[in-house]
Amino acid sequence: MNKIPECLIHPVSIKLIRSGHPWITPDSFSNRFPRQSEFIIATDDRKRPMALLMHDPYHKNVKARVWSTKFPFDREAQHFTASIQGRLDLAFEKRFQEAALKERENYYLVFGEADQLPGLFVLKLKDRVLIQFYTQFWNRYKSIIQTTIQEVFPEIKDENIWFQLRGETRELQKLPLNSNDTDRRDEFHLQEFGLQYLIRLGSSYDHGLYTDMSSIRHSLKKFIAKDSSVLNLFSYTGAFSLWAMKLGASNVTSVDLSPKYIEWLQQNLGLNPDLNSAQHQALTMSVDDALEKLIVEEKKFDFIICDPPSSSSDGEKRTSAIKAYKDLIRKMDKVLNPQGRLVLFLNTHQVTNQKFEKTIQENLAELKLNYKLAMRLSLGQDCPTLKGFPEGSYLKGLVLEKL
Ligand SMILES: C[S@@+](CC[C@H](N)C(=O)[O-])C[C@H]1O[C@@H](n2cnc3c(N)ncnc32)[C@H](O)[C@@H]1O
Repeated sequence: MNKIPECLIHPVSIKLIRSGHPWITPDSFSNRFPRQSEFIIATDDRKRPMALLMHDPYHKNVKARVWSTKFPFDREAQHFTASIQGRLDLAFEKRFQEAALKERENYYLVFGEADQLPGLFVLKLKDRVLIQFYTQFWNRYKSIIQTTIQEVFPEIKDENIWFQLRGETRELQKLPLNSNDTDRRDEFHLQEFGLQYLIRLGSSYDHGLYTDMSSIRHSLKKFIAKDSSVLNLFSYTGAFSLWAMKLGASNVTSVDLSPKYIEWLQQNLGLNPDLNSAQHQALTMSVDDALEKLIVEEKKFDFIICDPPSSSSDGEKRTSAIKAYKDLIRKMDKVLNPQGRLVLFLNTHQVTNQKFEKTIQENLAELKLNYKLAMRLSLGQDCPTLKGFPEGSYLKGLVLEKL
């Protein structure tokens, strides 16, 4: 192995790495890292080596990720392949010990930085595995990752291993890279908490079920009472709608702008004959329009789930979910029964939990609405988070009870 270049990093990066943050963003220091080097040894202002970095000169926002802060770094780099295997095994072991994961066929085997495998996410989807790279760095380690997975899960066949490059340029990296192989069957069903879902790996960027929300779905169980009426806003393929029906909701309304996702939701309903689809109503329209319509019709719900995309555009201007919340809350309140509950999600690392909660409390105060915080929601179980790394804690939610 060639000698690994030692590079001084930005004073802020020095501080962040010391507090457990594993990313180096573009700056006048990281932009000068030698482009051809796979690894970089980061040094502090006194030229002392402080971390071994995985280098990604092509990434727009994350130029390097911390692999190790354990000295000596050239040895850490020499043992890199063995360390990948060790870290993968450790991540799998954690999942085997998590009893709750037995209730679903979809879970994360590896959750990036929090499993000490920066930018690498591995999803188990029934008898398939989806390997997601958030940095091109991992490209040359594809086969070692695949082999390690198949050693632990020998039942997973080669044609059931999928690779996807995710992150910055969504449009270019839409589908798993090998989704066009002729021997691949990209559509299948999997089970979560006794419900069947249709998964399509070869049809869009996301495959039909948000696994990072599975543990949250489970934790909402105690709030969805039998015979309650439920409104699921930004429903996507209907995971929360089906879950509410399974828990005994007497009627569920799902709203999504996309005909494709509403059609997918209907297919999911069809896969679960024990659910009474007559108790479900789908509205293919914007959430704004749907709320206006429901207000005019004087509809009332006991439980409302609101999970907007982090930002959306009406063709002219882009609005962030956090900014849109005040108006959404005003409208949702009009269709929520007394003692009813609102579940508000925010899916971005750019707003911290504290900021989100504060903004929502301010919205409620400005609207003169009286709600009590019943629960805070965050990533859990198979989706661990890392102290000092807010980018990894992107998903947050609040359950509010109407007083
Ligand atoms: C983050 S996903 C919701 C995921 C869903 N809650 C789940 O757990 O499966 C956002 C969804 O909002 C839909 N969407 C985006 N803007 C919308 C709007 N203005 N009105 C209705 N739906 C919208 C998208 O089509 C997408 O399905």
